[in-house]
Amino acid sequence: MPDFVLPTVAVHASFLAAMDEFVTEGAKDSQTAAWIEHNAPGWQDAEAFAEFVSEVVADAEEDRPRIARYVPCTTLWWVDGEDYLGRLAIRHRLNEFLLDVGGHIGYDVRPSARRHGHATAMLRAALPCAKELGIARALVTCNENNDGSIRVIVAAGGELEDVRGTKRSYWLSTG
Ligand SMILES: CC(C)(COP(=O)(O)OP(=O)(O)OC[C@H]1O[C@@H](n2cnc3c(N)ncnc32)[C@H](O)[C@@H]1OP(=O)(O)O)[C@@H](O)C(=O)NCCC(=O)NCCS
Repeated sequence: MPDFVLPTVAVHASFLAAMDEFVTEGAKDSQTAAWIEHNAPGWQDAEAFAEFVSEVVADAEEDRPRIARYVPCTTLWWVDGEDYLGRLAIRHRLNEFLLDVGGHIGYDVRPSARRHGHATAMLRAALPCAKELGIARALVTCNENNDGSIRVIVAAGGELEDVRGTKRSYWLSTG
């Protein structure tokens, strides 16, 4: 059964294969795309990958130095044994950009694992984690034409707030 884990070197091989899939599909404007841009191909090396993993984990720390418009972010990986399936990010609080565009929670599932219910299970499983981080209502946004993500958000109890340009904004109670 897949579950969330903190980013871990245990899924190194599968993670790299997943990133190749995202490159092939031309992923952009996501945490995954930024990881690829800043870490590939160096992260094939075990030590470099371990450093990357610990940076991602440390991004949850409040006092970590970060670009002014970034907020602390907990990243969870959805894995089944040693298989990397997807990732989900919980930003600890909203700033102007996140309120307008990014929301509290972002996620993706590797292309080869899509349409198996993983994103639906991930978002549901993330809500108690968000609650633990002090988020009572989580904002999740998605593009107007992202039918899969819209279904994922609605299945997790998302209530549509509004549609701004090409973005739909939903609020989810974390329970
Ligand atoms: C959107 C995404 C996360 C969905 O992941 P997934 O694991 O395939 O989603 P699920 O299997 O849980 O599917 C949820 C529902 O959406 C439907 N669905 C999934 N992808 C779909 C698509 N491309 N078009 C239409 N419906 C789709 C599924 O059939 C399912 O419907 P159901 O609830 O009626 O059974 C995945 O396609 C992805 O990573 N896309 C790229 C990144 C992205 O868009 N992230 C979200 C940003 S808001």
